[in-house]
Amino acid sequence: MNPSSPILLFDSGVGGLTVYDALREVLPDAPVIYAADLAGLPYGTKTEAQIGARVAGLLGRMAERFRPRLVCIACNTASTIALGMVRDVLEVPVVGTVPAIKPAAALTKTGTIGLVGTEATIRQAYVDDLEARFANGTRLLRVAAPGLVAAAEAKLRGQPVDPALIADVHARLTAMEGGADIDTLVLACTHFPLLSEELSAAFGAQVTQIDGARGIARRIAHLLEGQRFAATGPSRFVVTGPLAGADGLEPALAARGFGPAEAF
Ligand code: DGL
Repeated sequence: MNPSSPILLFDSGVGGLTVYDALREVLPDAPVIYAADLAGLPYGTKTEAQIGARVAGLLGRMAERFRPRLVCIACNTASTIALGMVRDVLEVPVVGTVPAIKPAAALTKTGTIGLVGTEATIRQAYVDDLEARFANGTRLLRVAAPGLVAAAEAKLRGQPVDPALIADVHARLTAMEGGADIDTLVLACTHFPLLSEELSAAFGAQVTQIDGARGIARRIAHLLEGQRFAATGPSRFVVTGPLAGADGLEPALAARGFGPAEAF
């Protein structure tokens, strides 16, 4: 293994930075390329066929260009739809990000869990399967919150979050049958932990938010155990589409040790 071979983290936008942050806690020195498919953002409103073709095609081309040692799809929407397809095309380990239903089921005391994801994620059979395997005997209430993806993108570019968007998610979840009993909230989109303060303010401190970032970071570290890392420069942040898509992200990227955004 070439010690400068990177870990490739992929998302439609900046959401996967929540996985990047967790990864840096366990692998501070690993070379990382973060790829944001800004030209394809948002994924959550697209069809399964569109997402599958786009993610598998792009990751194939990115793997050829960047020669990663491991690819992480730091996006629940892409993972729940295209993980199998991507594993078929790539020759390196591929780690996905799927809704943290299992830990939520272990944590809930009321037996009622809320799950916020994109429209595409919440309708996936993959999520039905996680629910059947790990949340049997609990009530799992799902809502789509597409507005939060754009809000998280804007927040990381220094713009304010419209409290009405968060209030709407809270209102829709708690209005569902049993919704008042939610004590655990699964953030089933990697963008949403970027709004955890706003979500806490709406849901209250008694509701625990759970996302998969730490678990994924541990999984990546485990798969790469014993490998050597030699980063040849700062982490790289690569975007599809016009480079201007990354305008406003400079402080967030610099704080995380990235060099200037690059076009793919
Ligand atoms: N960050 C992505 C996820 O985890 C989706 C955002 C989008 O809709 O593109 O689902």
